[in-house]
Amino acid sequence: MQVQEIPHVAILPTPGMGHLIPIVELAKRLACHHNFLVTLLIPTDGSPIKPQKAVLEALPNSISSIFLTPVSLDDLPVDVAIETRISLTLTRSLPALRDSLKVLTESTRLVVLVVDLFGTDAFDVAKEFGVPSYLFYSTTAMDLSLIFYLPELDETYSCEYRDLPEPVKLPGCVPIHGTDLEDPIQDRKSEAYKGMLQMAKQYPLAAGIMVNSFLDLEPGCFKALMEGKEGRPPVYPVGPLVQSSSDHGVYDSECLRWLDKQPNNSVLFVSFGSGGTLSREQLHELASGLEMSGQRFLWVVRSPHEKAANANYFSVQSIKDPSPFLPEGFLERTRGVGLVVPSWAPQVQILKHASTGGFLTHCGWNSTLESIVHGVPLIAWPLYAEQRMNSVLLADDLKVASRVKVNGNGLVGHKDIANYARGVIEGEEGKLLRSKMKEVKNAAERAFSEDGSSAKSLAEVAQIWKSTHKD
Ligand SMILES: *[C@@H]1O[C@H](CO)[C@@H](O)[C@H](O)[C@H]1NC(C)=O
Ligand SMILES: *[C@@H]1O[C@H](CO)[C@@H](O)[C@H](O)[C@H]1NC(C)=O
Repeated sequence: MQVQEIPHVAILPTPGMGHLIPIVELAKRLACHHNFLVTLLIPTDGSPIKPQKAVLEALPNSISSIFLTPVSLDDLPVDVAIETRISLTLTRSLPALRDSLKVLTESTRLVVLVVDLFGTDAFDVAKEFGVPSYLFYSTTAMDLSLIFYLPELDETYSCEYRDLPEPVKLPGCVPIHGTDLEDPIQDRKSEAYKGMLQMAKQYPLAAGIMVNSFLDLEPGCFKALMEGKEGRPPVYPVGPLVQSSSDHGVYDSECLRWLDKQPNNSVLFVSFGSGGTLSREQLHELASGLEMSGQRFLWVVRSPHEKAANANYFSVQSIKDPSPFLPEGFLERTRGVGLVVPSWAPQVQILKHASTGGFLTHCGWNSTLESIVHGVPLIAWPLYAEQRMNSVLLADDLKVASRVKVNGNGLVGHKDIANYARGVIEGEEGKLLRSKMKEVKNAAERAFSEDGSSAKSLAEVAQIWKSTHKD
C-alpha cells in the first residue's frame, strides 16, 4: 500500500506529561495492532519539553510527532485554575492545529482526529476538513458520567454540590458525596466550572468516546454509558493503557537495588505523583507516621508546596533536596528500614517489584492503573482534580484501597498514617485489599487478551475508522 493510502490518525493530546503517557500508549496500540500511521500534534505553552521529547523519541517509526507553535499564557494571573491553563493552551493552539491538519489531509489518508478530555474546541477545526473527531477520555467512566450528568445537576440544584445532603447518584456508579466531586465542580461561580459545563455540552458532538478504563473495573458506569442514550456518542472502554515496564529497558537505580534486598510484599511505596506536594506540617506528619509504623517504605519526597501546582503539571519539576523539611534525625533513624528518594523514581518498576506490598498514592488515574496492572493494594490519599472520585471508586466500590481521613486541622495525622501503613502491609485489612486487587489485576489482563473487552472495543473503533471514506 502507498503511504497515502494507509489510514492515518492525528492525535491532539492535552498539555502535561500525565496526559501524554496514556495517549502515547494508545498511539502504539493503533500503530502496532491495527496498522495505522499516527501523528501526534502536541500543544505547548513554551515550558520545557525535554521529558516529552524523551518519550516521543522512543516511539516506532509509524508514529510521528509535531510540537505545535508554543502559545503564550503570560497574560493569565499566576493563580489561574490548572483546567483553565490547559484549555487555553489548547484553544490558542487551534490555528497551528489547522495548519497541521491541512498538511495531513493533503498528504495522507487522514481518517480521524483524536483529542483528549480538554480538547473539544478542536472538533470544529477537524470538521472544516471533513474529518470526524473522537475523544480519548484518560480517566474513569465514573468521571465521564459526571460530565454527561452535569447539565442536569446544574439545572436541578442551586446550591454548591458539597452542600447536598445526599450523595450524588451517577447512573450505574457508586454514590458519591458532593465534597468528593472533582475540583472544578466545587465552585459553581468559577471559570473552571463554566468550562466544565461548556465541555459537557461539547462532548455529545464527538463521533465516539474512548475511555482509559475497562469494563470489569466499572461495569455499572460503563453499562449506563454504553446504553446509547439518544444524542450521546458511543462509548468504548479501551484501557488500561499504561506505560509498560519494559519501555525503558533495564533500570539500574539505587531504589530497585534496595528493593531487591527486602522481603516480598514488605515495602510501602509512597508517592504523590508529578503534580502533588504536601504542606510542611503534612510532610512532618507523614514522616513521623512512617517511622512510627515500623514498616519498610520507599518514599518519593518533594519539598513542601514546590512552586505552584501549575508549573509542576506542565513539566517535571527540578529536583530539590527535601531533607531540611523532614523531622530532625528522621533519615538516620529510619536508615535501612526506609529509603527516601528526592522528586522522582521509576514508578512502574517499583510497582512491579515483588518487594512492594502497598502504594500510598494521590490516586491520579495514571498511577492507579499502574498499581492495578501490577496488583498492588492502595492507601488512597487524594489531593486534587478528580482524585477524590477515584478514591471513592477504589475504596468504596472496588475495595482495593483504604482511604485516609483528614482530621480537624486539615491534616492526616501521624498515628493514623502509621495505622494505614501497618494495615496494608501486615494487617488483615491488607490481605483483603491484596486479594481484591489480585482479582482486579486479573480482570485488567483479560481486558487486553485476545477477545478481551478492551481489545474488542478498540478493534471496533479501528474498523470504523478504516472504513471511513472522505466525502
Ligand atoms: C504518569 O506515569 C508516568 C509513568 O510512570 C509518569 O512518568 C508520570 O509522571 C505520571 N503522570 C502523572 C500526572 O502522575
Ligand atoms: C518472592 O516473589 C518472587 C517473585 O514473585 C518469587 O519468585 C519468590 O519465590 C518469592 N519469595 C518468597 C520467599 O516467597
